[in-house]
Amino acid sequence: MSKPVSNKTLAQIARVIHGSSALVITAGAGLGVDSGLPDFRGPQGFHAAYPPIAKLGLSFPDVSTPRWFAQDPAFAWGFFGHRLGLYRAASPHAGYGILLEWARRRPDGFFVFTSNVDGHFRRAGFLQERIMERHGDINFLQCADPARCSGRGDVDELIWPADDLEVEVDEGTFRASRPLPACRHCGGLARPNVLMFDDYQWLEDRTAAQDERYRAFASRLRRSGKPFAVIEVGAGESVPTVRWESERLVDGTRGGTLIRINPRDHGVPIAGDHHEVPLGGLEALTALERHMEGLAGTGRGEDVGQARGDLEGEARALRDDVI
Ligand SMILES: NC(=O)c1ccc[n+]([C@@H]2O[C@H](COP(=O)([O-])OP(=O)(O)OC[C@H]3O[C@@H](n4cnc5c(N)ncnc54)[C@H](O)[C@@H]3O)[C@@H](O)[C@H]2O)c1
Ligand SMILES: [Zn+2]
Repeated sequence: MSKPVSNKTLAQIARVIHGSSALVITAGAGLGVDSGLPDFRGPQGFHAAYPPIAKLGLSFPDVSTPRWFAQDPAFAWGFFGHRLGLYRAASPHAGYGILLEWARRRPDGFFVFTSNVDGHFRRAGFLQERIMERHGDINFLQCADPARCSGRGDVDELIWPADDLEVEVDEGTFRASRPLPACRHCGGLARPNVLMFDDYQWLEDRTAAQDERYRAFASRLRRSGKPFAVIEVGAGESVPTVRWESERLVDGTRGGTLIRINPRDHGVPIAGDHHEVPLGGLEALTALERHMEGLAGTGRGEDVGQARGDLEGEARALRDDVI
């Protein structure tokens, strides 16, 4: 059970968001839980979503490794094919839409930083150029053996969308039927363009391009001295990449406030006026939205965002990188 949060605290957080010139949304697997997706460290989440893997007694790091693509590709694609199917079948919950509205109204723009590989921010309408996917995206493919692959060229050549890909998985054995997904260059095996454990074959070019845009935005934000908010949802402690990024963004700045939404791991260990929200993502965002509605029309974010028109403002923010 989540702990209750007082209306006074929610109103205070809503004022922080409303008064922010820019927003960074950071997210881990917990954000997808309210869309019906499993997280990973919760052993229930992972094993409940992948019963054949539970039967084999394997953990997430045991399965999410490129080793299987070399040793047993039908099993590797059984896991990733099933996972791709789960993410495609789920729809991003209403909290994404709430975040997008808040983000679009910030006069100095926004960015998403996530370790999720489900592509749900894009599906919820966030502009691709404003998303940093630290661990890649399962909706994209690459060669499983890039060192030997004949594929060359730019990022769009080497990493391609999995839109037309259908992987047939035997749900009892968790093995994928042949033919398995093939590399479009050399005809060998393809794999998802996600960072796995002990992964030396991951092609990071797509993520590197996102990272360049994100770093430029984040450093301008930190230097600007203007108030900005970092809203973190569902980032776990075992692979703390997202949590550390949220803390790094606000630590030592004059303007940054961290809002950490997480029913269990909500502690913020750094100094400053930051906020811990011990609720699930959808519940917290819906409650905050009610308080934001009460503030509508009275703050700079609303005025500037409305005057520009949401999409127009976003496009301009992109072009000018306005911070
Ligand atoms: N949807 C995805 O794309 C997805 C899903 C699972 C794992 N992964 C990958 O696995 C790794 C998992 O690390 P992680 O830290 O993201 O996940 P994690 O499983 O380690 O942690 C999930 C966190 O979400 C919190 N949580 C649970 N229910 C929640 C809810 N309803 N609302 C908000 N928060 C909730 C938990 O308390 C926990 O802190 C990442 O590296 C990621 O690449 C991706
Ligand atoms: Zn290849």
